[in-house]
Amino acid sequence: MPLFDVYPLYNVTPVSGKGAYVYDDNGTEYLDLYGGHAVISIGHAHPNYTKAITEQVNKLGFYSNAIQNPLQVELANKIEALSGCEGYNLFLCNSGAEANENALKLASFKTGKERVVAFKNGFHGRTSAAVAATDNKNIIAPINAQQKVTILELNDILGVKTELEKGDVCAVIIEFIQGVGGLDQATADFYEQVFALCKANNTMFIADEVQSGYGRSGKFFAFQYYNVTPDIISIAKGMGNGFPIGGVLIHPDIEAKYGMLGTTFGGNHLACAAGLSVLNTIEDEALIDNVNEVSEYFISEAKTIPQIKNIKGRGLMLGLEFDFEVGELRKKLIYEHHIFTGGASNKKLLRILPPLNISKAQIDVFFKALKAVLN
Ligand SMILES: Cc1ncc(COP(=O)(O)O)c(C=O)c1O
Repeated sequence: MPLFDVYPLYNVTPVSGKGAYVYDDNGTEYLDLYGGHAVISIGHAHPNYTKAITEQVNKLGFYSNAIQNPLQVELANKIEALSGCEGYNLFLCNSGAEANENALKLASFKTGKERVVAFKNGFHGRTSAAVAATDNKNIIAPINAQQKVTILELNDILGVKTELEKGDVCAVIIEFIQGVGGLDQATADFYEQVFALCKANNTMFIADEVQSGYGRSGKFFAFQYYNVTPDIISIAKGMGNGFPIGGVLIHPDIEAKYGMLGTTFGGNHLACAAGLSVLNTIEDEALIDNVNEVSEYFISEAKTIPQIKNIKGRGLMLGLEFDFEVGELRKKLIYEHHIFTGGASNKKLLRILPPLNISKAQIDVFFKALKAVLN
């Protein structure tokens, strides 16, 4: 049976990984500055991670959400401790789209309203309401298009005010650093005013931290650079270092009711063990400090390259903008220098999303290769 052909593929077959490296079926080593799309947080095959998963699967991999699962409680407490988001409740699911789907659903339950405000170049996933709130017509099927969504420009505070004051908006959903769209950020003023407008209009403020969360921005959450308290925070990617897990942090003002949300696989024992080992490693290895240190080094090195016109993003969620499309550059980095990087909907942007424990020496390898390709 052929695979449903929806992914354009690079001709590389990774079969193993270690830290910031993956190895293909010929034993060639690749430096991974893409992290499988911002997913690899603590590095490939981290020993804490493989141990935690192995031990857990040998005991109990899964049981449904009809029983006590102390691992979920431990994970929730650890997220609270490391993120500083005190008092929130955690609901666990399996992916970023699912996290946003649940976030939007909660916002609608809480407010009784149905329209969503989202932003140009935003990406929130490929399921029902999440894809409707995504600014990409090519991935919105007619069945999704029936959702009520208004897409506004980042920084259009008057637009947000006008829409929210109409009284039918259940949620504003926003990435504090856009991922797929190309690392754009709004101004601090904008985020803070949107938050105030949400408060004033009984609209839930949803921070989509699926990509920017878990330390990637240099703080646990990217919204923590600003003076806002989201009603709902969606998380996924870095949370499981590749194990499928997602979640929503839910402000205590939103009251739970039995059956309001639910999932078969979400929060299973194996996913929680993976998630706990990620958080323990982020803490024990001070990975957020490393993000900030390596980020500063990366940016200072990038500034010395004249072909780079703009450096975007924060932490280890970075983009290098050129005045040409980077497709060929990425191919040369992969095939000639064995370095994975990412692309964006902005075709001139090279995205850098390495494991959070990448070293400065590994960044040097990247810049040496980049200079060789550019010259
Ligand atoms: C900000 C953001 N939200 C949501 C998603 C969707 O996550 P998933 O692919 O796990 O459904 C992504 C994926 O790239 C993302 O970057």
